[in-house]
Amino acid sequence: MMQLEKEQTAWTPEIIAFCCNYCGFAAADLAGIQRMQYSAGLRIVHMPCTGKIEMEYILDAFERGVDGVLVVGCLEGGCHFMEGNLRARKRTERVCLILDEIGLGSERLKMVNVSDAMAPEFVQHVQEIVSTVTALGPSPLKPSENKESAGES
Ligand code: FES
Repeated sequence: MMQLEKEQTAWTPEIIAFCCNYCGFAAADLAGIQRMQYSAGLRIVHMPCTGKIEMEYILDAFERGVDGVLVVGCLEGGCHFMEGNLRARKRTERVCLILDEIGLGSERLKMVNVSDAMAPEFVQHVQEIVSTVTALGPSPLKPSENKESAGES
């Protein structure tokens, strides 16, 4: 009974992974095909390239109350749109500064680079951001009804 109550109140951070079509999404897809386990709180947003991810997309996700954001692009030098992943890294760094400025914490946002075959690395990146965000707790921007289910009042 105690175990059941504990499971019911356990909080799963809500993480959005913006994945580029070529490597990020392919690595996530491969992880699924190989039945690798990762957080049930992960939602993948399929993008043509990380270079297409505007800062507003990331900020909008946080404004809606997600607990963490992962940007997953091709390896440096491997972007199918030349320098999209380099632009994405600069934008991600700028959003990190904003997150620190507003007190949300830059640790909630991370950009990683993978190849299409790097399913284990993809899963590891997901686990890392999940454990970082779990330590930080639910986003203070989370709508109140979601906060209650996340164990806050
Ligand atoms: Fe993967 Fe540009 S196509 S980051």
